[in-house]
Amino acid sequence: MKNKVQENEILLDCIPLLLKWYDTHKRDLPWRKDKNAYHIWISEIMLQQTRVEAVIDYYNRFIQEVPDLQTLANIKEDYLLKLWQGLGYYSRARNLQKTAQLLISQGRTTLPSTYAELLKLYGIGTYTAGAIASIAYQEQVPAVDGNVLRILTRILGAYDDIADPKTKTKYENLLKPYMPEKESGNLNQAMMELGATICIPNGVPRCNICPVSSICEAYQKGLLATLPIKTKKQQRKIITKVVFLYMYKNQIAIQKRPDHGLLASLYEFPNIDCSMNLDEVKTYLKQENITYENISFIGKYKHIFTHLERHMDGYLIHLNKKIKDKYVWVSLEQLNRTYSLPTAFSKILKDI
Ligand code: ADE
Repeated sequence: MKNKVQENEILLDCIPLLLKWYDTHKRDLPWRKDKNAYHIWISEIMLQQTRVEAVIDYYNRFIQEVPDLQTLANIKEDYLLKLWQGLGYYSRARNLQKTAQLLISQGRTTLPSTYAELLKLYGIGTYTAGAIASIAYQEQVPAVDGNVLRILTRILGAYDDIADPKTKTKYENLLKPYMPEKESGNLNQAMMELGATICIPNGVPRCNICPVSSICEAYQKGLLATLPIKTKKQQRKIITKVVFLYMYKNQIAIQKRPDHGLLASLYEFPNIDCSMNLDEVKTYLKQENITYENISFIGKYKHIFTHLERHMDGYLIHLNKKIKDKYVWVSLEQLNRTYSLPTAFSKILKDI
């Protein structure tokens, strides 16, 4: 652990090294083509909890289809969720639209340009406000997320618990006075880039090609396996479901989820919270007066959310008459084109 003077020295030494490295090593990413705040905002929201490689195609499509705040404020929610399908954490998409609607209702056509104003918007916390304000508007503010905490605690040899929210605030305050004029956006992105490509979250860090290894405490003192300190998360709750893929001719039954809670307003296959083998499913269908031509077990599926795991048994059931009034019946083509099905369910569909 370093004292204030040593901390100051390490930070002052590492900032120019990071900036220089970023200048020559930054990846060519679509949201780095310009400094448009709308583009930066969309990319930063998509990049929360999601890897760069997984975001690129979503980002390009989103910007093409929804190029500005006005369009975002006006599109239908189903269409928005369709554009987001597969990215997960759908409240991010809904917050984007709520923010766009709020700003448009205030007569604005662009995002506000300061950290303090950005923080007031839906779905924008200190990290995202810092990223947008520094990258798009060159405000001298940090953007600290888990990746940045990992690299800073390693560089400084610090034993702060990076899972503790107070640590984030501590490092935001620590970095703030060091944010360089005109280059804060680059410094923030340099730290993100180092965290994504060199000082990686899982696996062995690539210290042999790291621009700051010569001043990194964790590297110099052999503490890479020890730092960062990150306390364990609570165990996830497990939910078991039986999922029914009811087919009638070339149509499949789906239903809309409630407009609140997990995966709100997305579509799903009919399902019940329990576990059943094939015989039990047949008994259940009989009780429900659902008659079918044939039934087969598709497979077992697991989908992990932040706080819970969903374990699902999928069954394909070819009906000999439609179950009336209960579901939305769509062709597979319509389902793919128009309805947003969360990944948890689309995994099952892929197997039929
Ligand atoms: N992760 C979060 N924001 C990022 C950005 N702007 N570039 C690369 N990775 C990121």
